[in-house]
Order: sequence, then C-alpha cells, then structure tokens
Amino acid sequence: MIGKFIVFEGVEGGGKTTQIELLRDWLLGKGESSQVWSKSIDLEVVITREPGGTKLGKALRELLLSPDVLAEKIQETAELLLYAADRAQHIEALIKPCLERGAIVLCDRFIDSTIAYQGYGRGLNLELIKQLNYIATGGLESDLTLWLDIDVEIGLARAKNRGKIDKMEQASIEFHRRVQRGYQELSKNNSLIVGINANLTREEVQKQIQGIIMQKLVEWSYI
Ligand SMILES: Nc1ncnc2c1ncn2[C@@H]1O[C@H](COP(=O)(O)OP(=O)(O)OP(=O)(O)O)[C@@H](O)[C@H]1O
Ligand SMILES: [Mg+2]
Repeated sequence: MIGKFIVFEGVEGGGKTTQIELLRDWLLGKGESSQVWSKSIDLEVVITREPGGTKLGKALRELLLSPDVLAEKIQETAELLLYAADRAQHIEALIKPCLERGAIVLCDRFIDSTIAYQGYGRGLNLELIKQLNYIATGGLESDLTLWLDIDVEIGLARAKNRGKIDKMEQASIEFHRRVQRGYQELSKNNSLIVGINANLTREEVQKQIQGIIMQKLVEWSYI
C-alpha cells in the first residue's frame, strides 16, 4: 500500500466530520493556514466514512442509523454483522484501491468504533469483535488514528444542536459513557491512536491535528 490511511474516532458530536473537512482543505493547500509544501506535491485526499462509504454501505447506514426505516429492532449480533458487512465492502471496493493508487484516505470511524460501541457500549464479546474486524478488514490497519476526545455531554449537546439525531445519538447517556471508556482503554493500549482534546474550538482542535499530521508527513517522507 503506498497511500496512507488516517482514521478519525470518538463519541458523537466530537467534531470528526468538521475536522476531516478542515484537514482535507489544509492538506490540499486550500485552508487558511495552508502550507507552501502542499502546492509542490500532488496529493489525492479521499474522505469516506463507516458505515456508508460504498453503495452497499449507504443502504446499510440507513438501516443501522435512521430511526424509522425498520419497524423492528435490529438485534445486537445482527447489528454487529451489518457493520462488519459494511466494512468488508468498504475495504475491498474503496479503501484498498485508494491506497494502492497512493491517496491519503481520511476515514470517519473504523474498527475502534465497533470495539467501543458494540463491545464496551453494548457489552458484546471483545474477542469475537476483534476476530470479526479481522475478517472484515483482512488485517488492514490504519496508519494513524486520531481520537477526538470530548466530554460525552458536550459531544451529545453539539450533536443535538446540529438537528436531526440518529439511532446511536438517541441511546442513553450511560451507553455513551461506556463507549467513552472503550476509547480510553483503546488509546491506552495502542500507540497508533493519538488523543486530541476535542472540547476546544474548531480552530484549536484543527491546530492540534495539523501538528500531528505534519510530524507524520515527515515520518512518511512526504516532506
Ligand atoms: N470545536 C467545536 N466547537 C463547537 N462546535 C463544534 C466544534 N466542532 C464541531 N462543532 C459542531 O458540533 C456539531 C457536531 O460536529 P461534527 O458533526 O463534526 O461531529 P461528529 O464527530 O462528526 O459527530 P457524529 O459522531 O454525530 O457524526 C456540528 O454542528 C458542528 O458544526
Ligand atoms: Mg459525523
């Protein structure tokens, strides 16, 4: 794989979508503080998300997250498998081809979301989830995962302010606290996960991200 796979993680409303777009603009030299170097290297930046990065994924996202699409509750194991199906399709149909042609892929959620939400949040078996993640990804891991670490209450308030809330956002505060604990545990045990203080302003959060990406671009020999 010659491209780079950068994942954004964290609880609802932490600013993943906002920060991914700001980072794309900065990488492409369109941001306010864009870099001189970005004009001399020809970067392709692809934004995608889970669930929903492919046509199949979009249909699965509707089933998984739109509150009124199904008149029946999706059972927890079925939910887990639907997320895995989304991921398997996403990896093969979109992420691998992008990485093979050298793109930088910015992905909103990945395997750590399944560990945090279905594992810590719903209480499903963590070993089983890890195996399933492996099956779905074929072992492909991110080159860097940025964990937007925000207080659960602040994140949910931001998500609610944004308007229409999805199925996950409707879950109880206790559920979201368990998810948060999942991310805390994951970041303790994985050096590829970098925590970002996401309680700050958009600009302050973006600055932290740009600092980390700058170091990585040097490490990855882009600059
Ligand atoms: N640093 C910030 N300060 C205040 N509001 C913010 C900040 N970052 C994003 N927002 C706003 O908070 C809301 C949630 O942000 P965003 O949609 O980027 O989060 P998200 O992590 O993608 O959420 P979700 O997990 O629900 O997809 C949006 O309305 C966004 O404009
Ligand atoms: Mg989002």
